[in-house]
Amino acid sequence: MSDAPLYQLVYYSRNEVSGDEAAFAAAIHSILEASRRNNEAAGITGTLLFNAGVFAQVLEGPLPAVEDTFERIQQDERHGDVSLLVLEPIVERSFAGWAMGFVGNSSGNAERFADVGLLSGFDPKALGGQKVHAILRELTIEEETGRP
Ligand SMILES: Cc1cc2nc3c(=O)[nH]c(=O)nc-3n(C[C@H](O)[C@H](O)[C@H](O)COP(=O)(O)O)c2cc1C
Repeated sequence: MSDAPLYQLVYYSRNEVSGDEAAFAAAIHSILEASRRNNEAAGITGTLLFNAGVFAQVLEGPLPAVEDTFERIQQDERHGDVSLLVLEPIVERSFAGWAMGFVGNSSGNAERFADVGLLSGFDPKALGGQKVHAILRELTIEEETGRP
């Protein structure tokens, strides 16, 4: 990867995937497949959280790649009301190694994060970008490595 300055972008949006559980699973699969393919080529890492109501995503990488990717994501009709929480320079990646990690709806997390209403009434706007970022980082590491 290049030595270009790194930026981090955090946003959330309203999940507009409709249909039954299978349709939802297929949509998520397709989003992750495209993300991992495109992000790896563009030097983007990050993580994606979703539940029935919202998506929240962290993108990190060189600014032009982050901007191009976000531009494309915003056009996607599988979500709406895309709201930017953070776009700022970072010293190092928080999700190095994850072309796109993801956090679904696991019951352990539902319990642990009940206090912030993460999975039921997740309110990224009230939490703010830094808090959303911190939660996503913790959840991604847990879910993908299977350890807290
Ligand atoms: C919530 C959400 C997150 C997404 N995240 C990414 C992403 O990180 N990288 C990406 O390339 N596409 C992402 N996409 C998909 C893009 O909107 C778009 O469908 C895709 O980049 C098209 O890729 P393709 O032309 O290679 O098929 C996301 C879509 C949604 C709805």
